[in-house]
Amino acid sequence: MLSSADIHTLMLPHLVHAEAYDAIDPPAVLAQEAGIPEEQVIKLDGNENLYGPSPKVKEALASYKSYHIYPDPQQRKVRQALAEYAGTTPDRIVAGVGSDELIDLLLRLFVGAGDTVIQCVPTFAMYATFTHLVGGKLVSIPRDETFDVDVEAVCRAAREGAKVIFLTSPNNPTGNLVSELAVRRLLELGAMIVVDEAYYEFAKQSVAHLSPQYANLVVLRTFSKWAGLAGLRIGYGIMDPIVAERLLVIKPPYNITVASEIALLASLMDKEMLLSRVGNLVQEREWLMGELRRMPQVTPFPSSANFILCRLPQGRGRRVYQGLARRGIFVRYYDTALLRDYLRVSVGLRHHNQALVQAFQQILSEGAT
Ligand SMILES: Cc1ncc(COP(=O)(O)O)c(C=O)c1O
Repeated sequence: MLSSADIHTLMLPHLVHAEAYDAIDPPAVLAQEAGIPEEQVIKLDGNENLYGPSPKVKEALASYKSYHIYPDPQQRKVRQALAEYAGTTPDRIVAGVGSDELIDLLLRLFVGAGDTVIQCVPTFAMYATFTHLVGGKLVSIPRDETFDVDVEAVCRAAREGAKVIFLTSPNNPTGNLVSELAVRRLLELGAMIVVDEAYYEFAKQSVAHLSPQYANLVVLRTFSKWAGLAGLRIGYGIMDPIVAERLLVIKPPYNITVASEIALLASLMDKEMLLSRVGNLVQEREWLMGELRRMPQVTPFPSSANFILCRLPQGRGRRVYQGLARRGIFVRYYDTALLRDYLRVSVGLRHHNQALVQAFQQILSEGAT
């Protein structure tokens, strides 16, 4: 018999002390933290879409009659609809429980214990989390001062043998794109190149059209951002048909739920409306960028996504973050070696953005006195 204290002796050694992904809390928890009613929380910490889903999603979910039946393990309808949306063929598409699940599945397919995975930091932390789970060796290549990928450094690192290289376009949390030229150059290295385009609809720039030319390219997308379905967890990848076939084999058979399928199909039926909201959010981003640029203590970085990364004066990041949280406005705060005194603010609707700007101004002027 094993006691609780010893149960870890049965666990995989590399997972006994694995750290959790630093995930964001739901509004109810944030409300409690700030001591305010949940409806007053302004949630700008998760790059979610504060418009919410299309009204057609609600209708479709409410009228569906067969929730007692398992979803299609081959995701036929979803893959067909996604192929039409993405301008490709269904055999190149796999849907996942958010694009997060596809990151996990790709690493399981390509990376074994000790295999190298390259990421360009600062970037989305899930690549590191999942690489660690499969026992991969993570090589982090720092970006340059404008957060561009250091292509030469990635090439040098990859020459020592890399199985997977993650590129993120636009990158989270920095908001900038990777050029197609850089992607093509890295594709020639022969490693799997995963281009995470979670914010594609905000940027309108993609490398998905390269998929037929390069079997080692996977493009990841999600419905969490442009379509407002973060809570329903649905993303997809565009890839070589052989890779897609293998992912369909190794994924849990009923990975995406019937609810997420329905929501995805209804969103695609209403894509013009959803894309016009994306257009509004892009306008809001530019408005917010203008306001932030006017604040002498804030350095916002140009963004092609639905968020803006801001640098604050040394030692001020935490104070501003806490000041915002006290006012019920939640943003993402970074206090790492690469991002010290940085905040990432998601772009909301005008009244959210206005509240953010006002609070920022108040907090910064309090600090100045
Ligand atoms: C770059 C990037 N990739 C993937 C994801 C995960 O998206 P999903 O909700 O589809 O799992 C996010 C979410 O913030 C992201 O920023």
